[in-house]
Amino acid sequence: MDDGLRQPTLLADARALVPFEREQLVLSVIAPTFNESKNVPELIERLEACLGHLVWEVIFVDDDSPDQTAALVRQIAQTKPYVRCLQRFGRRGLSTAVIEGIASSSAPYVAVIDADLQHDESLLAQMLPLITSRDLDLIVGSRYINGGGMGQLSSARQAMSKFATRLSRLIMPFDLTDPMSGFFMAKRQSFAAATPYLSGAGYKILLDFVASSPRPLEHMELPYEFRPRLHGESKIDAMVLFEYLVLLLEKTVGRYVPLRFFLFCLVGGSGVFVHLATLFPLKALVPFAAAQGIAGLVSMTSNFVLSNVLTYRDCRLRGRKLVTGLLSFYAVCSIGFLANVSFADMLYERGYAWWIAGSAGVLIGSVWNFGASSIFTWKRN
Ligand code: GDD
Ligand code: MN
Repeated sequence: MDDGLRQPTLLADARALVPFEREQLVLSVIAPTFNESKNVPELIERLEACLGHLVWEVIFVDDDSPDQTAALVRQIAQTKPYVRCLQRFGRRGLSTAVIEGIASSSAPYVAVIDADLQHDESLLAQMLPLITSRDLDLIVGSRYINGGGMGQLSSARQAMSKFATRLSRLIMPFDLTDPMSGFFMAKRQSFAAATPYLSGAGYKILLDFVASSPRPLEHMELPYEFRPRLHGESKIDAMVLFEYLVLLLEKTVGRYVPLRFFLFCLVGGSGVFVHLATLFPLKALVPFAAAQGIAGLVSMTSNFVLSNVLTYRDCRLRGRKLVTGLLSFYAVCSIGFLANVSFADMLYERGYAWWIAGSAGVLIGSVWNFGASSIFTWKRN
């Protein structure tokens, strides 16, 4: 396991500066994986090469990858007990994978690294002596300081990353050059202090950590060059962008309104447009009451589809459950509609202004629809 010959100076420095007993576990490395079986063996070898002189562990948190990453990790772990696998089922998400990986580990320091070899693992051997000797909470691998680089990332991805970095200032208590980085080392205690407040949405666990920490974090950044991916594919897609917005919202409006309710209302608002856009052409073709009924069904259906994909993306219904879910959603919304109308009517009868009565009805209906559909349609309680 001790492969010190490869990087003699770094290792000598690291050994001298890390104040731990020879047998003591120092570092837990967390590597989230989804379809990374081609990269896992190489990552383990590289980690051995730079950390082999210490007592460390690596935890691969795998979301039940179809390419059997988890089985491969377990097989390797048979002869390497410092390698562990945490397999999750029926769920996806880089941030929650990292949070759970860290929670399942034990060292006083934790590091998070992509499993696809795009992060420069040799930096870990520099981070460790720095974080301990300077008593820092966090060291971030940055692509944007001198000596770092974006590698061969397409210019579209680079522009997107820069834009996302700018947006992150909304929620960052201090400036980091690369808050989008998924490569960092932290003191366990500091991460644990932030854990109850984490959003867990999406990809950006570093940003989430920094924005959720109850106290300011002593930190520094070290440069690294983002490497091209050799095997497998990036998981970046439109959903990742949406998840990023969710994280930003959760850390801003989420302080005041439960974010799921906020998203539910946004979707509901879109339903009003769908309703009117359907009603407008239809009313020329069929009697008004029929047109209004059909528009109601169409907007309920579009609300259901959008809620399923966005608001309840983490417990999304698929296949046959999509049909039963839609029927229960219709039922829930019909009751919500009745509650809305009767409550509004009651207020109006008691002399409240039409817009107060109308809005109160909509509010009651939305709260009912939200609560009941999250229990009956998406089975959350
Ligand atoms: N468990 C789990 N679940 N792992 C995931 C999931 C998921 O849903 N999605 C992605 N991963 C794993 C991948 O297998 C990989 O090891 C790592 O998370 C990063 O995913 P990529 O899809 O390769 O992301 P990227 O290359 O576009 O971006 C990465 O690098 C950026 C620059 O540092 C991410 O780590 C970003 O967060 C980071 O900013
Ligand atoms: Mn990658």
